[in-house]
Amino acid sequence: MVNKATKPTDALIGHDSWNIQLDKNGQLKHFLTTEGLGSALLTQILDTAESFADVNEKRVKKVPLLRGKTIVNLFFEASTRTRTTFELAAKRLSADVLNINISTSATSKGETLLDTLQNIQAMHCDMFVVRHSDSGAAHYIANNVAENISVINAGDGSHAHPTQAMLDMFTIRRNKGTNFGNLRVAIVGDIKHSRVARSQIHALNTLNTGEVRVIAPRTLLPVDIESMGVNVFHDLSTGIQDADVVIMLRLQKERMSGALLPSEQEYFQLYGLTEKRLKAARDDAIVMHPGPINRGVEIDSNVADGPRSVILDQVSYGIAVRMAVMTMTLGRERETAADGEKEDNKT
Ligand code: MLT
Repeated sequence: MVNKATKPTDALIGHDSWNIQLDKNGQLKHFLTTEGLGSALLTQILDTAESFADVNEKRVKKVPLLRGKTIVNLFFEASTRTRTTFELAAKRLSADVLNINISTSATSKGETLLDTLQNIQAMHCDMFVVRHSDSGAAHYIANNVAENISVINAGDGSHAHPTQAMLDMFTIRRNKGTNFGNLRVAIVGDIKHSRVARSQIHALNTLNTGEVRVIAPRTLLPVDIESMGVNVFHDLSTGIQDADVVIMLRLQKERMSGALLPSEQEYFQLYGLTEKRLKAARDDAIVMHPGPINRGVEIDSNVADGPRSVILDQVSYGIAVRMAVMTMTLGRERETAADGEKEDNKT
């Protein structure tokens, strides 16, 4: 049974919000935000993902770790990459997957979110992967589902996108090694509306990154951004100077109210990453972007498709990281690819 609850709202993201993410043994039960989770847990996600990255390169890309579990993709907001990589992750773990298209579901006929959830719960599901345009929606659902169900936040408003942040940490670690303390990471663009940037900043700081910089016009920065432990720049070339990692963000026009920018062309002139501008970063700097990319708005095609770009690796690693989070939350007693192989040999 779900409890009575209020509408999703930012107020639901309280300071103890991360507490509901852990079970009584301190293990990950829901994954809603990177905020407040310790470095040991974040490192456990990255280490577990390493074992699944190998599975994804095998001829038979499947392990039986979540056989018999049912995972429901509940996407209230459009997505291609995130939804499909969650679906592939679940299938490669042998779970059954249900994709609920909210635009054609009963929620759009006036059924409340809680009624929709109760009906899906009655089908004996084990996990909800939720994307919603309201900040706080994933917390709201986690607070209102049955005890046995895990909730993974696949992006809520401009609040959090924790699996994206962890696949970004995984990409950084694969390219730059495990010591984040040596790294200068620059995040460029629409920080204000970006759930990805927020989740990245929390994760980078928890993993003790040497320096985290944000680079944006004043209109695209939240007022309290320094309190997140970042150095702020408004000039792109100065901001990416000697960076090891440059993360570009999309302009989140769907979340902007009012005119925050003169024009896309002007934005590109000031903040677009070109080959020439990238010279300010370190020679071996990598370029990342969570996608979808807007060529000629935040990034030039020569950079997006160039030798420093790891943008498509991010997509591939997303499957391994989502497999890791799914096994850590649902199969809390068995959670590496090797465990899955042992299990397979028994059958
Ligand atoms: C998101 O869902 O936030 C994306 O991965 C990034 C974007 O939409 O720009």
